[in-house]
Amino acid sequence: MPVPDGGDALVVLEDVDKHFGALHVLRSIDLTIHRGEVVVVIGPSGSGKSTLCRAVNRLETIDSGRIVVDGRPLPAEGRELAALRADVGMVFQSFNLFAHKTVLDNVTLGQIKVRKKDRKTAERRARTLLERVGVATQADKYPAQLSGGQQQRVAIARALAMDPKVMLFDEPTSALDPEMINEVLEVMQQLARDGMTMVVVTHEMGFARSAADRVVFMADGRIVEQATPEEFFGNPRSERARDFLSKILHH
Ligand SMILES: Nc1ncnc2c1ncn2[C@@H]1O[C@H](COP(=O)(O)OP(=O)(O)O)[C@@H](O)[C@H]1O
Ligand SMILES: [Mg+2]
Repeated sequence: MPVPDGGDALVVLEDVDKHFGALHVLRSIDLTIHRGEVVVVIGPSGSGKSTLCRAVNRLETIDSGRIVVDGRPLPAEGRELAALRADVGMVFQSFNLFAHKTVLDNVTLGQIKVRKKDRKTAERRARTLLERVGVATQADKYPAQLSGGQQQRVAIARALAMDPKVMLFDEPTSALDPEMINEVLEVMQQLARDGMTMVVVTHEMGFARSAADRVVFMADGRIVEQATPEEFFGNPRSERARDFLSKILHH
């Protein structure tokens, strides 16, 4: 079971609600992510998983409730928001590297602009991270010259370069050709083993089983249930979860 709320809560959502017009996309979401924890979020398309991630990174506003990152409520805007956003690394489904910048520049720029490092220090760190995700030899290329799997690994390196407190992954392998999925999941597995706090939206159930401390199942804007992977996959409690699992595990 999830550890009880203690002093190690890193991201806390309290009674968060969000509408898009008449559509109620997040409904009374209460969720605590603890330091070092890997939480996999699964659920049908349209259930609010991306909106949840985007709200934590403040790419979306919320209507009511509270989101606290490392003890500080999310600020509305300004410099404080930029700093806080840098604490929350995000990797999206579609590759969102700067197309007109080299791989090295992609991983260097934020360090200089937001973290105020000098170029040399930033480049050294970038090369270390590119090495870590296995694309060091691609440093001088442009994103379009890389495979999807390589681009996604650069995106992970770029996010890590900001020294985030938590990493959010929103279906990071969904747009990849099948043969490239594992190389990205392996980098994520390694991050998890290294103790990174991670929230991962994915349909990769193998990853969920092996890397997640906790699985959160969403449907219709609600957290329907949460449990350890063993409990969730072995004995899902809700009809919605059983239905969802039967669809994705037997297709
Ligand atoms: N910017 C937006 N404007 C209006 N509706 C949106 C917007 N973003 C998402 N939605 C809707 O909100 C619901 C939840 O979307 P999303 O969070 O992307 O779900 P998921 O990631 O679980 O597929 C969906 O019905 C989607 O169509
Ligand atoms: Mg989504």
